[in-house]
Amino acid sequence: MTHVTQEKWSSGTAFLLAAIGSAVGLGNIYRFPYVVGENGGGAFVLLYLGIVLLFGIPLVMTELTIGRRRQLPPITAFTELSEGKKSQPFWKFVGFSSILTPLGILGFYFVIAGWTLNYVYSIITGQLNNLVEGQTLAVFTEMQQSPATLIFWMTLSLLITAFIISRGIKAGLEKAVNILMPMLFAILVILVIYSAFNGGMVETFEFMFTPDFSKITGRTVLEATGQAFFSLSLGSATMLVYGSYLPKDTSIPKLACGVAFADTFVALIAGFAVFPIIFNNGLEIDSGPNLVFVTLPVIFDQMPLGQAFGILFFLLLAFAAITSTISLFEPAVSNLEERGIFSRKKASVVVGFGLWCLACLSALSMNVLSDLRVLTFNDTVASKNIMDLLEYMSANAMMLINSLFAGIFLGWILNRKEALEELGLGDSILFKFWRAIIKYIVPVVVGYLIYAFFTGQMGG
Ligand code: PHE
Repeated sequence: MTHVTQEKWSSGTAFLLAAIGSAVGLGNIYRFPYVVGENGGGAFVLLYLGIVLLFGIPLVMTELTIGRRRQLPPITAFTELSEGKKSQPFWKFVGFSSILTPLGILGFYFVIAGWTLNYVYSIITGQLNNLVEGQTLAVFTEMQQSPATLIFWMTLSLLITAFIISRGIKAGLEKAVNILMPMLFAILVILVIYSAFNGGMVETFEFMFTPDFSKITGRTVLEATGQAFFSLSLGSATMLVYGSYLPKDTSIPKLACGVAFADTFVALIAGFAVFPIIFNNGLEIDSGPNLVFVTLPVIFDQMPLGQAFGILFFLLLAFAAITSTISLFEPAVSNLEERGIFSRKKASVVVGFGLWCLACLSALSMNVLSDLRVLTFNDTVASKNIMDLLEYMSANAMMLINSLFAGIFLGWILNRKEALEELGLGDSILFKFWRAIIKYIVPVVVGYLIYAFFTGQMGG
């Protein structure tokens, strides 16, 4: 089969910025604080850190290795690397499934990215001024009830993403992250400093770092793993594809640690931007998904310079979202381009249109299609609308399944010598330790989590 040779990152740093951009997203700034809030703080944070260290970093290294070995996108990478094995058709299918997963994620992610753009606009135009809690809830609900509003802002986030993708790796992705990531970090720092001056830091420290182990249940473990995988962009072809553009002279272990460290750091820092405000105002820490879109706007309104703070906060969310949506969009385009099916530009349009239809369904499932419930294979899935179902299947189930197979592939199928060469750690303890985790521990633990998931013990 002929391959169209694809562009590469101009350096390890360019990759690092893009991969951190992928990892740092709504998962860190929107989801992490409320999941920590719902799960009781310190113990959850500790568990999360443990999972990132033990499974997160090794799995990021695994995906980067599979991607960079032949510098090919998932389907061809899995197929070529399993050459001569009886199970080859299965691995080709695994490649295919890992490309579908980010498309499923984008089906709901684009809608939420649209909310963040809408909030930036609403705060700038003063629509969120002088509101009390009930009113911000009304604004949020009104947005969700309006198909036109949802679709407009979703479309905008999709167009921005497709435009960046269509320009290619260096002129599109690299350029976008070069602009967006420094701004993202700058805004985050400003927000934390601002929060620090307004008090509530001591309570935040206590809440986030004093573990109460009685809060840990089987379900917490599942939640923490799901959150860690989602936040590190695992099991969704992203690291495979970003790895395939990685120059051979860069160190996969170092880059994987860099991505995991930055991602976790931003999630924790996001907690320090959000929780002090909550503690200062005597609000509920466990208000769930409403935390960012309903609770915070009330407080922004009351704080000195609150409007500016609010604009910065939602801009931060929007930037974080866009650097993630580009990484979710790229795998399908990369695959179509490499196989010579479409040029990059055409692929961006075709994939973009398909995704637009899916995201429209997702947006409509909050209003006109809210009665449409899909798939009823067990009790937990039975009551889901399209948007929730997409999240449930792609961001939870498929990410875990793809991660499981990436682990099995590296441990049991890929020639040890190839992994050894790619990692550049020599035949050291570190290499052996990494491979043992991937070969034995990941299949057992992630396999069990998938079992728990499908028997209804995870997520609701
Ligand atoms: N890691 C991103 C976030 O935290 C989401 C994401 C998942 C991006 C999978 C790419 C792949 O929001």
